[in-house]
Amino acid sequence: MRLCDWSVLSNTLSRPGKEAMETSLNPADRKVRFLQELSEFLSIPSISALPAHAADCRRAAEWLRSHLEGLGCPTVSVIQGPGHPVVWAEGPQVPGRPTLLIYGHYDVQPPDPLDEWISPPFSPTVRDGKLYARGAADDKGQVYCLLKAYQGVLDSQHRPPLNVHFIFEGEEECGGKVIYELLKREPERTQADAALVCDMSYYGPGLPAVYTALRGLCYAEISVRTLERDLHSGTYGGVAPNAIETLARLLSALKADTGEIRIPGLYEAVVPPTPSELASWKKLPFDREGFIREEVTGKVLTGLQDRTVFERVWALPTFEIHGIRGGFVGEGAKTVIPAQATAKVSLRLVPGQRVEEVGRQLEQAVAKLAPSWADVRVTLLHGGDPVQVDVSAPAFEILDDAFEAVTGRRTVQVRAGGSIPIVPELGMSGAPVMLTGIGLPDDGLHSPNEKLDLEQLWDGIEIFSRFFELFAEKGAGARAYSSSSGDTRRMGPE
Ligand code: BES
Ligand code: MN
Ligand code: MN
Repeated sequence: MRLCDWSVLSNTLSRPGKEAMETSLNPADRKVRFLQELSEFLSIPSISALPAHAADCRRAAEWLRSHLEGLGCPTVSVIQGPGHPVVWAEGPQVPGRPTLLIYGHYDVQPPDPLDEWISPPFSPTVRDGKLYARGAADDKGQVYCLLKAYQGVLDSQHRPPLNVHFIFEGEEECGGKVIYELLKREPERTQADAALVCDMSYYGPGLPAVYTALRGLCYAEISVRTLERDLHSGTYGGVAPNAIETLARLLSALKADTGEIRIPGLYEAVVPPTPSELASWKKLPFDREGFIREEVTGKVLTGLQDRTVFERVWALPTFEIHGIRGGFVGEGAKTVIPAQATAKVSLRLVPGQRVEEVGRQLEQAVAKLAPSWADVRVTLLHGGDPVQVDVSAPAFEILDDAFEAVTGRRTVQVRAGGSIPIVPELGMSGAPVMLTGIGLPDDGLHSPNEKLDLEQLWDGIEIFSRFFELFAEKGAGARAYSSSSGDTRRMGPE
């Protein structure tokens, strides 16, 4: 079927009733039906960071609840906490078959800048075979893919193939603690033969990937006060300490022009990638110019010039400034010396580093740089440890077989620059955690015009259906390790 503008589709097609059997639909109608369903999910602005959208997060959780009930899960609960709820579901029990824990998140990032979206972020629109919406790839579209893959196996086998436990959180994008507290209270929920996290992308078109590491995160605010109140910049300009200027100097002192982060001790704990890992990255196809032009959309690549791009985005810590608040930013001009300024910053962490220690290192570095006449504070907002995954467990072979069956390719092993804070906890009962996904590198996560290629979605549904079938047969032995390695945040055998 040639996919056209979604508004045309939705205007011309009647909505099939909930009771319609998927199997009775021909493949084209099935795709239309799936697009309608996913569009419904994507239309809910479940922006976890914005308190005004708390009810929308709840609606997205309820959407998942009813969908999971529709899949025949006898246990579905929406678990409340001091934030957005976690959706937990268990498929029908299948004695003797392995258990798979499936993780995803239903929350999304704020969609701004709104005027850069070609179609509105919460009005899902198909253009040129791609579905555009906030959350299309990160992560609602991928969550939906897994739900339909499970349904696909139910439809073809007429019975559940394996035990599945679904855990979907609504605070992945905002650093909430509800899922963390839940798993701390009830760690038995992580007992499984394997965990599957589908929240990433292929390495490139036609090149599915599994991830051997995720970076961690330490997110903080640095605030500076230099005066009791804002002042006239003519009367006092030349003598009064400016809070934004003070903050700007401090921030620039935290990173050298070479890209080296000037936080004492920061690099000490970093465990460098192994020579064989570095060698395998050298073999990955990489078009540096295309990467700069099409993905980065800038003119240069910054950072440590003596390190490869892969090292810089996967294996080294970063320090980024996300926003600066203070002074006058309205239309027109106001002549004022700001008394107060705040920067939102974060560090990405790599294997070896721990978020508590990096937080302390940041606090100490800022305290040392702060001039005595300014009140400078660091507030740690949230974070998560980096993880390293050993991909030698049999579950990864099974995943590769599924990818190969549908795409003709086995996965390449890469790392992720991004973070998923709950991943270490998902593996705490010893289940190997498979980090993978159906997105493409140009999906524009967190950016305007985020999209998911529909072919990736259709393939993804087949890939994970196949994975569920294969894992149902062979997965009982997939959990090669009986206990987590605990403190090191290294998952897999020692
Ligand atoms: N799905 C991403 C993480 C990701 C991005 C993994 C790209 C692999 C490749 C996730 O939703 C995300 O954006 N995480 C946040 C976590 C943060 C807000 C605590 C991130 O990395 O910024
Ligand atoms: Mn995500
Ligand atoms: Mn994200």
